[in-house]
Amino acid sequence: MEKKIVLLPGDGIGPEIMDSAVAVLEAIAQRYKHQFHFNTQLIGGAAIDEVNMPLPDQTIQAAEQADAVLLGAVGGPKWDNNPSELRPERGLLKIRKSLDLYANLRPVKGFETLLSASPLKEDIIKGSDVLIVRELTSGLYFGQPSERRDNDQSVVDTLHYTLHEMKRIIKKGFESAQLRRKKLTSVDKANVLESSKLWREIVEAEKVHFPDVEVEHLLVDAAAMKLITEPSRFDVIVTENMFGDILSDEASVLTGSLGMLPSASLAENGVGLYEPAHGSAPDIAGLGIANPIAMILSTAMMLRYSFAMNVEAKAIEKAVETCINKGLHTADLHVDHGIKVSTSEMTEAIIKELTI
Ligand code: IPM
Ligand code: MG
Repeated sequence: MEKKIVLLPGDGIGPEIMDSAVAVLEAIAQRYKHQFHFNTQLIGGAAIDEVNMPLPDQTIQAAEQADAVLLGAVGGPKWDNNPSELRPERGLLKIRKSLDLYANLRPVKGFETLLSASPLKEDIIKGSDVLIVRELTSGLYFGQPSERRDNDQSVVDTLHYTLHEMKRIIKKGFESAQLRRKKLTSVDKANVLESSKLWREIVEAEKVHFPDVEVEHLLVDAAAMKLITEPSRFDVIVTENMFGDILSDEASVLTGSLGMLPSASLAENGVGLYEPAHGSAPDIAGLGIANPIAMILSTAMMLRYSFAMNVEAKAIEKAVETCINKGLHTADLHVDHGIKVSTSEMTEAIIKELTI
């Protein structure tokens, strides 16, 4: 197959881990006889430095014309004091909105050999395998207008959702559960928020279309607690934007490091953007020690969801697992055994497993 992929390396460790993704894709192309055409574009702080805006139109156009988009990470202290419209994160939010990437899928699955890397007890996290389905293009992140009032004496952020926005992500949650262990946990704050009450009503109405899926409602505070006390009770969690952001970082603790978590952001028309769930880690940028696994697993998700290359996606996931089982780990994983490797050593090891 021939595919056009837009690369958005972004900031911090973004460019380093993007190199890893490209190297893996080149190995896949060679082994499975595909042609991948890469087109690198600007986003985030890198775009602010170059063209004084976090998401140039050219990037959006290239993404619209591509078969899929891969993104590294955005942000860093360099731009922290910029006005909001010139913050790197704006670029990320804008591309999500422009491409209508409403469904963010974040699988969280621990590797058996890394159980000891988590600060949580091994017997608690053993067997946990959760998919967080996070709404990505609405809610508090996109409420208008967001403003300071009366000389900073008060401030407004608006949580707005349309019925359509809630319905489509809830449906995605049910569909995802149907493809897995058929259990859906809907997370909200229906004891306080009006938006959550409507959310819960939609879940209740939608469940008649998915009779094989078991549904439960959890308040977000209880969900946060159960995620680290009883993680194996979860299959699919569906929730709104902000709750999903918080719960997915929390869930990463199950895998030992945020550096292990891939994600797919999907639109209704099939467009997909794939990025690690972690940030740009400016403190370790340029040191060659970043964990490339979240980026590489995001690449596998791209092959599966955007190109239907299931065999190739599985091959990457298996190669990653083999390397981890051999004890290879980057510095972010606190394990007392195995071999500590750099970003490029980990990438090469994964590629080697792919090509044998
Ligand atoms: C994420 C990140 C982003 C978010 C930031 C960088 C805007 O934390 O993808 O989870 O909050 O969505
Ligand atoms: Mg986040």
